[in-house]
Amino acid sequence: MPAGSSPGYASPTRSRLIIMDAKTNIALELIDLEPELEDFRQAVVEGLSSSPQKTLPCKFFYDATGSALFDEICDLDEYYPTRTEINILRDCVSELGTLIGDNRLLVEYGSGSSVKIRILLDQLPLAAYMPIDISREHLQQSAQRIAEDYPELAVLPVCADYSQLTDLPVYQKNPGLRKVGFFPGSSIGNFTPEEAQHFLQNVARQLQPGDGFIVGVDLKKDPEILHAAYNDAKGVTAAFNLNLLSRINQELDAEIDPTAFNHEAAYNDSHGRVEMHLVSKTDQQIRLGDDQFELATDESIHTENSHKYDVDEFQQLADAAGLKPVKVWTDENHWFSIHYLER
Ligand code: TRP
Repeated sequence: MPAGSSPGYASPTRSRLIIMDAKTNIALELIDLEPELEDFRQAVVEGLSSSPQKTLPCKFFYDATGSALFDEICDLDEYYPTRTEINILRDCVSELGTLIGDNRLLVEYGSGSSVKIRILLDQLPLAAYMPIDISREHLQQSAQRIAEDYPELAVLPVCADYSQLTDLPVYQKNPGLRKVGFFPGSSIGNFTPEEAQHFLQNVARQLQPGDGFIVGVDLKKDPEILHAAYNDAKGVTAAFNLNLLSRINQELDAEIDPTAFNHEAAYNDSHGRVEMHLVSKTDQQIRLGDDQFELATDESIHTENSHKYDVDEFQQLADAAGLKPVKVWTDENHWFSIHYLER
């Protein structure tokens, strides 16, 4: 995008930032709907007040430290989802290209792995790319890099919580541009099935009939493999989970000792999900602003769920939300799946 030109969005807008790179003269206008610190505080207070099970909001895992730790998780031997999904994506991208057609706006829900998005950007003849992410810093940097590397592509970053976003900003230069959504990493599994249904309904509303949606979904498998993936030997997943407490200390006026908690992740068969918890090692009080919260020894704070699906099970969920299953690809072990759905 040349300097001075703007992607030209229309609503919903809280504020706009133009980010200019002096060296490349590339300007990126960012739509900023980032949650305020107050939203974070409120969510934490609400979670710690809930009874009998305390919770913490998982969407706040990804500050700079959290994002770096998550990148490390993705490289772990035990954490099979990332490399499995990348391999499937490489194998199916040309078929995806045929299903999707040319000249689309690719909407990425949560801008995470640059490896995955670049497989699509390299091989699909796209017109525009709209990454949506809750972390402004991360979004700015990755959008900037992509704009530099793909000079023909209109890059339209939107800083927002995609789970709360009901309407996409309109790309005013080409409002009728057909869309394809991309939601990798089995992030859909971090919603409950009811939330996933609701999210997919939202996505369906953001698309036109015939538009596509590509979604990565982790599959049900031997619980031992799941256990290892969320309890790695190096303790990176534990550090990632515990970092949520450090972030609360840094950003909210809080006093929590992360070393007074253990990371716990276990597969809950009846819910078909890995549940992540932070478990208190002792009886303790934690302070957040003017609020105090009591924790008993072994009491847990539930931080995250990672739901696993069978292929059929997920297809039914998508179908019920108004997204028709068109094609699904899996790896040879049937550990992970990529679905192409159509509104
Ligand atoms: N979407 C990832 C998953 O469910 C997120 C994740 C991986 C995660 N490891 C974690 C979340 C550990 C919390 C704690 O696999």
